[in-house]
Amino acid sequence: MAATDAAALNIALLLLTFSVKNSDQKCFVAKNQHKNYCDSLDDLYNNNDLLKDVTITERDNTPNLEEFKAVPLEVAQNIERLQLRSVINKVNEDAFVNFTSIQFLTLFKNKLDEIPVGIFRNLNVRILDFYQNGIGRLSPGAFVNLTKMEEIRFPFNNLTKITFNIFNNLTTKGLVLSNNQISKIEKFSFGNMPNLKKLFLDNNLLTEFIAQENLHHPEVLEKLWLHSNRLTEVTVYMLEGLTNLKVLNLGFNSISSIEPKAFAETPKLQILVLTHNSLKVISGNILPTTGLDELQILYLDHNRLTYLSSNFFFRLNALRLASIGGNPWQCPCLDLVLRWLYDNGVKLNCDKAYLNGERPVCVVPDVNNVCVYSYDENHYQRFQSQISLYPPPPWCIL
Ligand SMILES: *[C@@H]1O[C@H](CO)[C@@H](O)[C@H](O)[C@H]1NC(C)=O
Ligand SMILES: *[C@@H]1O[C@H](CO)[C@@H](O)[C@H](O)[C@H]1NC(C)=O
Ligand SMILES: *[C@@H]1O[C@H](CO)[C@@H](O)[C@H](O)[C@H]1NC(C)=O
Ligand SMILES: *[C@@H]1O[C@H](CO)[C@@H](O)[C@H](O)[C@H]1NC(C)=O
Repeated sequence: MAATDAAALNIALLLLTFSVKNSDQKCFVAKNQHKNYCDSLDDLYNNNDLLKDVTITERDNTPNLEEFKAVPLEVAQNIERLQLRSVINKVNEDAFVNFTSIQFLTLFKNKLDEIPVGIFRNLNVRILDFYQNGIGRLSPGAFVNLTKMEEIRFPFNNLTKITFNIFNNLTTKGLVLSNNQISKIEKFSFGNMPNLKKLFLDNNLLTEFIAQENLHHPEVLEKLWLHSNRLTEVTVYMLEGLTNLKVLNLGFNSISSIEPKAFAETPKLQILVLTHNSLKVISGNILPTTGLDELQILYLDHNRLTYLSSNFFFRLNALRLASIGGNPWQCPCLDLVLRWLYDNGVKLNCDKAYLNGERPVCVVPDVNNVCVYSYDENHYQRFQSQISLYPPPPWCIL
């Protein structure tokens, strides 16, 4: 008991010291965490006694950004994980040369315009995470000779263009470029990346993506996120060669057409997201003739579908989860869709508000109560005029 109390007091005192303004406390160690928290860069530069895991974070939630200066070898060489949180506004090309053991480097909400050439040259770093640092430019060769690199993440920055001399030749498995303002990807920007399995390009300004032009090894890619861009169509060319792709997210674009056989070269797809687009018609001819036998999850909600042709579902033998709400279904066609889903044990996801009567789910035809297999703009307008009276649909986690 007494020992525990003493320990608790000890922690409390440490915490107290840590939170004192301008404290002299150098790099607080949290109990039970083998980790240093430093509240200024000076504490890092002058501390020879650090653990392998070090976080430098802003003092009192007030960012005090300064240049990241030379770190003596004696300090840097043992650090394996370094996090810099809202503390730096400039890094030099040689900033990390003394971090000879570093494996994980995280820069979180700093202010950096660009990443200089060769800054990580010859380091053993495995994961680079640069979250929201205002980075607008990556110098060509910024990531040269990083043979141990497994994942590079640049989410929530200000990249506008990806050139072929930035990521080319890297052996990383994952590349995250989500939430930037990328509108252009140069030819073979992801060339010679023989291990690239995961590519996240969502929440950018892309109007096209062409696997054959962007990747030398499209057959390696397993996960491709392209949601929340400005894509308008899915072409054969776009997905050609992605023979091992398992997850494809194309939601929240402006896709209004899918070319016949567009998915012919993605037989391994397990999850396909087409949520929130402008698709009026979708039919079996976009799928491989033998079907997508591994597709388990399909999101089709919030498009302009009024019917589904009968040859579509027949090519999706493994389907077990789907979303269909927010489409201007003709009621008789919706009945057919629901019956097929029910008969085949496919559960609906994300469609609750539609199916339990909280939101309009279909349009009753004027005359015959039969499904008409053609798109009719008036029909869509009628649905739209009703649905626009409702608040935006509930967010559904993809
Ligand atoms: C690397 O460490 C050496 C020895 O401590 C030091 O003199 C030098 O300034 C450091 N360089 C950088 C770029 O951190
Ligand atoms: C990359 O590594 C190769 C082979 O080790 C070396 O010849 C080349 O100079 C390095 N390039 C840079 C920019 O460090
Ligand atoms: C940079 O991107 C962030 C969000 O990722 C955005 O809030 C900010 O306005 C952008 N800055 C510039 C200069 O575009
Ligand atoms: C990639 O590697 C090839 C072959 O080694 C080389 O010719 C090319 O210049 C490299 N590209 C970049 C951008 O480093």
